[in-house]
Amino acid sequence: MELTWKRKLEWLVMVGFLYIINANVSEGGITSSFLRSYNYSRDMPLDSDVFRVPPGYNAPQQVHLTQGDHLGKGVIVSWITQDEPGSSTVVYWAQHSQLKLQAHGFFLTYNYYNYTSGYIHHCTIENLKFDTKYFYEVGIGLTTRRFWFKTPPPVGPDVPYTFGVIGDLGQTYDSNITLTHYEKNPAKGETVLFVGDLSYADAYTFHDNRRWDTWGRFAERVAAYQPWIWTAGNHEIDFAPEIGETRPFKPYTARYPVSFQASNSTSPLWYSIKRASAYIIVVSTYSAVGKYTPQYKWLENEFAKVNRKETPWLIVLMHSPIYSSYVTHYMEGETMRVILEKWFVEYKVDVVFAGHVHAYERSERISNIAYDIVNGLCKPINDQSAPVYITIGDGGNIEDLATNMTEPQPKYSAFREASFGHGILDIKNRSHAYFSWHRNQDGYAVEADSIWLHNRYYGTRSDIKQLA
Ligand SMILES: [Fe+2]
Repeated sequence: MELTWKRKLEWLVMVGFLYIINANVSEGGITSSFLRSYNYSRDMPLDSDVFRVPPGYNAPQQVHLTQGDHLGKGVIVSWITQDEPGSSTVVYWAQHSQLKLQAHGFFLTYNYYNYTSGYIHHCTIENLKFDTKYFYEVGIGLTTRRFWFKTPPPVGPDVPYTFGVIGDLGQTYDSNITLTHYEKNPAKGETVLFVGDLSYADAYTFHDNRRWDTWGRFAERVAAYQPWIWTAGNHEIDFAPEIGETRPFKPYTARYPVSFQASNSTSPLWYSIKRASAYIIVVSTYSAVGKYTPQYKWLENEFAKVNRKETPWLIVLMHSPIYSSYVTHYMEGETMRVILEKWFVEYKVDVVFAGHVHAYERSERISNIAYDIVNGLCKPINDQSAPVYITIGDGGNIEDLATNMTEPQPKYSAFREASFGHGILDIKNRSHAYFSWHRNQDGYAVEADSIWLHNRYYGTRSDIKQLA
């Protein structure tokens, strides 16, 4: 049957359209075409409700948790009292138990230029039971405040566990939306993997440390109920010799301790934990990592000692990504890549989460470790021993989104989109984990990107079939 000119034209438009779609995909990965209604977001004002000081004289504020040992049987509880030291004791008890226990901590203060901190309390609770809900109280008398947390199941290869992944959060209206979306996500993260850049207090004159306090009060609604695994970002450095502040990471380390000694680290900026079926190594992008440095030596030992039969999921957290195809911060992670990438491949890291770039990106499994100065082998290649690199510095801070992307999209970049959001890593068993990315403009359950991760130690998809 003879086609009419109109039908022919429709066919041509359709074929052309399909060609354009196909060309977009085959050039590299997917650059999302999602269109945001976009307003530049400023920090929420100091008198915002989310920054409210809890009522009562000297009431504990900025309560937050992190893992307090290497296995997950310990918790560090931190909080601040503003008027006087008060008590550094935590009262805690297991759900359904009448037995109230106490753990005793300590407090410290610090000065930063013209700012003096409140009394910052840190108290480690040890030897908790696994997989148990605990209530805890901080404060004295009428200003006692009560919270709860749940310890993880015992470490083991098939223990399911769900992590939230948040980076570069800040304290804007967008930050607030990100945190709410994480709270309401039906996937229910049990612990937050935080990839650096907390308060952005350093955006203010003299690094106004009151913005560290507002951030602590803002994050409390999640951080008092589940541990956040901290990573230091560039906004934690607070190095300001022009105002006499020459000790890097002073506010951050005073406020957000980690149990680094439990992994034989000599610095709170790099350390590891086990949690359920995951082994998590936290790298400091802003500390020396060259050969012979303390971080290098520690990492060299650390990767070698991970027992994948016990913790199949090997996860690295770092602030600056080593693979990112955005223009902002392009190649800033290159010095780290030169040192670290060979270990990521040799030890078959499953996934590397990074922040710093204020957008989302997920890579293919690629490596670029063959170059030896003279052989010319300096391009990323497909490598099934390599991790998936996920950049998730899209928490919503004052510095705005990174919308400028390098073009064309490199082949190693599987998916990229400049929107605010958060991630969920849902570990199912030793062989399968599901990662999803959730943008702030969507409903709480919507996945804007997702991938099944097949464990690197227990093999690729075909290997898993053999094991089954
Ligand atoms: Fe950053």
